[in-house]
Amino acid sequence: MSADTSAPVTPAVSMDSIVALAKRRGFIFQSSEIYGGLNGFFDYGPLGSELKKNIRDCWWNDMVRRRDDIVGIETSIIMHPKVWEASGHVAGFSDPLVDCKVSKQRYRADQLFFAPVVVTGADGVAQTAGYVSALESENTAGELQSAAESFKRKKALQGTLAPVVVKDFTEATPAEIVLIPSPATGNPGDLTPPRAFNMMFQTNVGAMTDASSVAYLRPETAQGMFVDFKNVVDTGRVKLPFGIAQIGKSFRNEITPRNFIFRSREFEQMEMEYFIHEDADWSQCHQEWIEWCRQWLISVGLPESKLTLYAHKKEKLAFYSKGTTDIMFEYPFGVQELWGIAARGNYDLGQHATASGKPQEIFDEATKKKFVPHVIEPAVGVDRILLAVLCAGYAEEDVTDDKGNVEKRTVLRLSPRIAPVKVAVLPLLKNKEQLVGRARDLYKKLQRRYAVFYDDGGNIGKRYRRQDEIGTPWCVTIDFDTIEKPGDTFTLRERDSMAQRRITEAELFALLEERVY
Ligand code: GAP
Repeated sequence: MSADTSAPVTPAVSMDSIVALAKRRGFIFQSSEIYGGLNGFFDYGPLGSELKKNIRDCWWNDMVRRRDDIVGIETSIIMHPKVWEASGHVAGFSDPLVDCKVSKQRYRADQLFFAPVVVTGADGVAQTAGYVSALESENTAGELQSAAESFKRKKALQGTLAPVVVKDFTEATPAEIVLIPSPATGNPGDLTPPRAFNMMFQTNVGAMTDASSVAYLRPETAQGMFVDFKNVVDTGRVKLPFGIAQIGKSFRNEITPRNFIFRSREFEQMEMEYFIHEDADWSQCHQEWIEWCRQWLISVGLPESKLTLYAHKKEKLAFYSKGTTDIMFEYPFGVQELWGIAARGNYDLGQHATASGKPQEIFDEATKKKFVPHVIEPAVGVDRILLAVLCAGYAEEDVTDDKGNVEKRTVLRLSPRIAPVKVAVLPLLKNKEQLVGRARDLYKKLQRRYAVFYDDGGNIGKRYRRQDEIGTPWCVTIDFDTIEKPGDTFTLRERDSMAQRRITEAELFALLEERVY
């Protein structure tokens, strides 16, 4: 067998290479691509849907099946519109929207930044000569500073330019709004003041399309757990503390969907509401769930070094929230929220009790009193995890084979837990009946339990490369030693180390049992 010997990793991963791989190998496509695509919507191809399903299954197994205190449910996407009034989404689920009146471009005000251009003249007097603006990026301050320098040059201003003081558009005063240039036209006076834009998608239920039939596509799965709380308590044999979990699609009419699948308009959430006693130590429970989520992300292959915690500032929390911590991931476009873990008090159950007139209480045997439980909510997007594992796993390397030839390999280091294909079965030659027969036999056996791939096309090195690129952790090659020597062994080739060793069928199944769970 030809062996690969060295693999220096090229560290920088660009989003362009991730998007290109996702398209080339059938992970993710733009939705409705043949019609030009629809911004903020994506399709998952054969490998992408397997990868997504594996992420969902790992979460469900670890969060629901392998715990005694959490049950799963699946609620409808369209719920009674009163749910969204009670939850506060009708009144408050909005982002601040800014229009450019000339270009018709729309921006989220908190993602549009500006700075005054302040120049100090020879007389020592600092004056604001104008404003510059830029959209949020990895280096917004740097971009604004360059824009301020170019502003000074173009206007031939004399004096010293002060370092820019960056603010977002929600902080702009009415006097500043008319002076800040639109990023689209470059002209001041083209931007409107920010206004609240509700992100829920509306639809109508039934034959009438008037106000009485308005309904919403859910913007989060969480409300399903609150609205069904009593049903689960009455039927599920659950006792506090306990959780209700759900995986499902959510929809948000995001003003600026971006960064590929990071922020889209249709996405999938995995949320769990963990109900605790009103007197329980919510802070300790919150911390435990933060750590559980962090460990879970590591268990599906995210490097610990790329995960950080961000505790929301007290003054920025919703009034009912006692604390929210986000697990952040270092994406190629910056460190961004991956998983939010919120302590929501008894706000949601309380709201639904008031709005529906149906108490959402639990009876405390110890105190003989009824109370509304409090909740800790870990909420994460499947698509964001999928993007994170693609970004963390992607590498381009130079490899040298045993003949000294150097070539490039693209490799996706996905955890065996979530890799779309677990094993590729490769007969060394496709026209040798004995090799093909043994390979087919092994393939069929593996297929009963695992996602496997059979490939008999091209030279063996090329076949390994194809599997490296889609993240297959192991290839087994059925070769002449398999059929000619005793022991019925195959060559097992590992994706990450590219090391090869001989393995029996029983050992292969044992390896899979241990690593794919
Ligand atoms: N029930 C609470 C809730 O929905 P959130 O922070 O709005 O909280 C939770 O959303 C998670 O859902 C986020 O941490 C993120 O992983 C994912 N998410 C939210 N909006 C998203 C979007 N537009 N596209 C993809 N994922 C999104």
